[in-house]
Amino acid sequence: MGGSHFITVEGIEGAGKTTAIDTIRDWVQAQGGDPLLTREPGGTALGEELRDVLLGHREGGMSAEAEVLLMFAARAEHLDRVIRPALAAGRWVVCDRFTDASIAYQGMGRGLGIERVRSLGEWVHPDLAPDLTLWLDLPVTLGLERAAGRSRPDRFESEQARFFEAVRSGYAAIAEQEPARVRRIDSSGTPARVRDGINAALEARFGG
Ligand code: TMP
Repeated sequence: MGGSHFITVEGIEGAGKTTAIDTIRDWVQAQGGDPLLTREPGGTALGEELRDVLLGHREGGMSAEAEVLLMFAARAEHLDRVIRPALAAGRWVVCDRFTDASIAYQGMGRGLGIERVRSLGEWVHPDLAPDLTLWLDLPVTLGLERAAGRSRPDRFESEQARFFEAVRSGYAAIAEQEPARVRRIDSSGTPARVRDGINAALEARFGG
């Protein structure tokens, strides 16, 4: 089980990331690991402040360029203060969203283009990529149904189905381009089936 252990979890709203992260935590602990659970945007004091700016409603919205750069500003801080030190110390890092979210949401959802956003990732973390990314995938209508009524929708949750269709196609493109890193988990099924899918992916990548 050598090497670094950087796991990211991705998907549209309502895909079940929280439950998935619980499943990953349980699996890592069963291997004797002590996982660091963190999230983006966020995970540091500055990152959480930027999260409030990014998710909060504001008159006139925000330009797509400002949005993606703030996401990467939060990410740079998170990498420097949290992710890199933890990986260097040999810890498992489990992150709720990472650069794939910027590619899917800003690259496809906001229309900046996958390559433009990917180039920001290459600038901010040229030497680092997740060892495994679990993409929790389900139809947009089902995700939105599951997410409905949770709390007052934030600036992203207030988007229409068409936006999330574009985001989902962004994730599909990444999964097609990087099949060794990105595992698609069908999250439209029962919690038990999703959990089995996640455990199987972890076992395949890190087990034995
Ligand atoms: P969360 O609610 O799943 O924690 O994520 C916050 C929102 O931020 C979610 O709607 C997705 C969005 N987001 C982006 O648009 N780009 C990014 O790079 C990240 C990390 C999140």
